[in-house]
Amino acid sequence: MSSQISQKHPKGLYVLFFAEMWERFSYYGMRAILLLFLLDNVSGGMAMSAGEGAAIYGLYTASVYLLTLPGGWLADNILGQKKAIWYGGIIIMLGHIILAIPAGTGIFYLGLVTVAVGTGLLKPNISSIVAELYPEGGARRDAAFSIFYMGINLGSFLGIAIVGYLGEKVSWHMGFGAAAIGMLLGLIVFRFGSAKYLKGLGEVPLAKVSTPESVAQSGTNKMLGYGLIALLIVFLIVLQTTGTIDMTTAQGLAQGAGVIIVTISASYFLYILVAGGLTRVEQFRVLVLIILFLAIALFWAGYEQAGTSLQIFAERHTQRMIGGWEVPSSWFQNFQPTFVLIFAPVLASLWIYLSSRNMNPSIPVKFAAGLILLGLSFFVMVGASNIAVKGQLASPFFLTFTYFLHTIGELCVSPVGLSSYTKLAPKRYVSQLMGIWFVGASLGNLIAGIFAGGFDEENIMQMPALFNQVALVTTAFGLILLVFWKPIKGWMGGIH
Ligand code: PHE
Repeated sequence: MSSQISQKHPKGLYVLFFAEMWERFSYYGMRAILLLFLLDNVSGGMAMSAGEGAAIYGLYTASVYLLTLPGGWLADNILGQKKAIWYGGIIIMLGHIILAIPAGTGIFYLGLVTVAVGTGLLKPNISSIVAELYPEGGARRDAAFSIFYMGINLGSFLGIAIVGYLGEKVSWHMGFGAAAIGMLLGLIVFRFGSAKYLKGLGEVPLAKVSTPESVAQSGTNKMLGYGLIALLIVFLIVLQTTGTIDMTTAQGLAQGAGVIIVTISASYFLYILVAGGLTRVEQFRVLVLIILFLAIALFWAGYEQAGTSLQIFAERHTQRMIGGWEVPSSWFQNFQPTFVLIFAPVLASLWIYLSSRNMNPSIPVKFAAGLILLGLSFFVMVGASNIAVKGQLASPFFLTFTYFLHTIGELCVSPVGLSSYTKLAPKRYVSQLMGIWFVGASLGNLIAGIFAGGFDEENIMQMPALFNQVALVTTAFGLILLVFWKPIKGWMGGIH
């Protein structure tokens, strides 16, 4: 891996690296203080209950990734990726500027929506330009994605450190303002860098170069899409009027979003399985994609607790004094990117070493390992919360070790997952299925939010049981994958 990484890469990769680094700086930086701000009732926060705050947080982070579907579509059909990234970045920056203005609830929500819309435009398209830089695919493209993943995590690290510090120690809105400045720097890098080093890439929307057949196909897709939206609206109205979900509350809205995400993904998979004109081999591969989708959604549902229940745990129940100085609680979220930066090369070399001995674990085994590590991390949190229940502060090592397990798990599923997803996808569905990969992240983030609603200050007693639930569900899913890895590998039809 290291020899591939040190191979010369086009300068365009570094333009994308730094643009995405600054975008992630703003995203993860703001996200690190978002729940704290929503729950805060002493220094100018929104004074929400844990249930409400966590639901808003879940809705926001889920929308960010769900909006990558229209974002990808707009780039493919109208804008081209380059413009989508540029406009997306401007919209994100405006969103953070709006958040930086202390002007009440309405304006705050407007800011969140704006950032989500902008990220939907930028995030999927910046990754696909990375792919376009390496039309030949192969190991160099994989190496480029590893470098890009480092940029993502370097940005998160700096964002959480700076925005987290300013938000918690100076003022919330100062933190949001810093996120806006980060995005501005990303825009500057992209503007000048792309003019010089990304010439001719992502300029013409894909639809303009498509064949008559693909146009006919997209006509049918459009009809099916409208049908699905109509069905969803009717379904949501039924849920609301029968009182099953009350979408006038934040929690109800988050549940409504869950219904939307699950319906979209289930109908999409059903559609390509039944009407996608797939061969038998492709159908089995799609079955594997469904299993990996469920696994990745569950993985993010646990992993993204970093911004929700684990953030609450850091803030309220963790010993954070070093000498006379109190470490900002949001800084605990920084263990994830830090461990990625340290261990990504280690795991990459491990896979290469194992492949050279023909022992590289198959994709279902890696996913199983990711989920089991995640499950174990929550058993660690059961131990930590048993201390908190007694009214004591838990040692910071609990969260540190939890995040260590999260990250090793992430490195088993996230980089491998995306590339296997593109490889297993039937050719003509690759970009749509890349969208579905983001929908998995969206669903996971939503669940991470909804779940943290149980972490109310009044209900500390139930904390160990809540963590125990996550631990059991994720470990069990991991073990099931482990038991059935052979047949699942068989369904992959020779793809590794
Ligand atoms: N750290 C990753 C990122 O921000 C997490 C992620 C993975 C997000 C997959 C979306 C989809 O890019």
